[in-house]
Amino acid sequence: MNIQTHTNPAPDLQRDSLAANTSQAITGQAMTGRAILNHCLGDAAIHWPEAQGQLMMGGGEPLSDWLKAHATPAYLYNLEVISAQVHAVRAILPSAIRLHYAIKANPHPAIIAHLANSVDGFDCASLQEMQHVAKLVPALLCHTSMAGPAKSLAELEFSLENNVLINVESLGELERIQSLCQQTHPRARVALRINPPFELKGSGMKMGGGARPFGIDSEQIPAIIHLIQTDNTFREVIDLEGFHLYIGSQNRDAAAISAGLAASLNLIEQLCSDTGYTPRHLNLGGGFGVVYHPKDTPLDLTALQPALGEIATRAQSLWPNIRLNLELGRYLVASAGMYLARIVERKISRGKTYLLCDGGMHHHLALSGNLGQVLRRNWPIIGIDQLNRPHTDTVDMAGPLCTPLDVLGQGQPVPPLAPGDVIGVLQSGAYGLTASPNGFLSHPACEEYFFKRGLSHAP
Ligand SMILES: Cc1ncc(COP(=O)(O)O)c(C=O)c1O
Repeated sequence: MNIQTHTNPAPDLQRDSLAANTSQAITGQAMTGRAILNHCLGDAAIHWPEAQGQLMMGGGEPLSDWLKAHATPAYLYNLEVISAQVHAVRAILPSAIRLHYAIKANPHPAIIAHLANSVDGFDCASLQEMQHVAKLVPALLCHTSMAGPAKSLAELEFSLENNVLINVESLGELERIQSLCQQTHPRARVALRINPPFELKGSGMKMGGGARPFGIDSEQIPAIIHLIQTDNTFREVIDLEGFHLYIGSQNRDAAAISAGLAASLNLIEQLCSDTGYTPRHLNLGGGFGVVYHPKDTPLDLTALQPALGEIATRAQSLWPNIRLNLELGRYLVASAGMYLARIVERKISRGKTYLLCDGGMHHHLALSGNLGQVLRRNWPIIGIDQLNRPHTDTVDMAGPLCTPLDVLGQGQPVPPLAPGDVIGVLQSGAYGLTASPNGFLSHPACEEYFFKRGLSHAP
């Protein structure tokens, strides 16, 4: 099966309809599912084809036909979308900046294996994420970093044994690494994660600035560099390769990301000039955001190009042997995933219409608004067989859990939907199943399916 063969309109036609659909979003006219998909996914929407309003699998089979033999709720991932996203990012990255995948966004082995030949390395946040890399892409272990506070002994030992770069988050962690190395290992590859005195404006989640559990406050960095350079017990075992900065996530403002990257480089330049240290490695984070709400403006990748070019040129002129990385998670994988749930019942409670669904918060915490959001906003939801119908109904959508937190939509515009119909929650490829309380209320495990020129069950 090849989903791209029969069902995609020619790219130009698709682009025209994309423009028309985006204008629907702007004028406030009820959007169709196709318009929502096109607006939220941008160029990647072309990889989710349709025929007569039905979302299609490969070979011209409607997804709803395929679902007759497969249970909902389920996650469906289109690996072609991930390739398209990597390609789009590569197109604006100067060749000097390497692209790493932050596995936390979606650690499924099928995704890591798919990315093996198209990214330059991986960023891990746990032992198991590193073990996935070791099993699936061992050649990239030396281009893998391990970040996160409160690293366990097992995580540190695995990093040391497998030549993984450790992004050190505190002086205490550096001391633990030093003592481990003295007992068992010759040398540790280390980057100091800096907590800068600024944050990334407009980020959905801020990870830098102020007091943080992540990173070492920038004002403490000179003393730590001095310690590594002058104290023999550190100098003998710690190989300080450079720095890591991660100041925020889910940002769609190219100017803010550009300013954040430039400020990060300025800070590193200042720290290096104060200490006389020459880094060989800089990981400047990323935080590229995606469209989760049909009326939001997408990140303009091309607007990032000048800042990225300047960063590469400046860093290379300061430190000619520098290795530069960005680590992206959601931007590469979010639009590849769709969470599928079936409507069990349409219920009216005191005048309010609810669609009660078989899937919910236990599989998709972010959709329910409980993964760090201050105010919950509706996600892009489509009826998989109603892509060409305007979303003229307004409903609340709830899942099967006995908690008011189990929300799929509130005042959510949908096409006319009835029990038995299947909805698809777009942008569900990142921070979905593994970022959710799967065990809550002991519902059955959720299946994950992958397709790339054909469909397969999760390995
Ligand atoms: C250190 C680090 N790197 C990368 C990421 C990936 O962020 P995103 O998936 O938004 O690209 C995160 C997210 O929290 C992070 O903390």
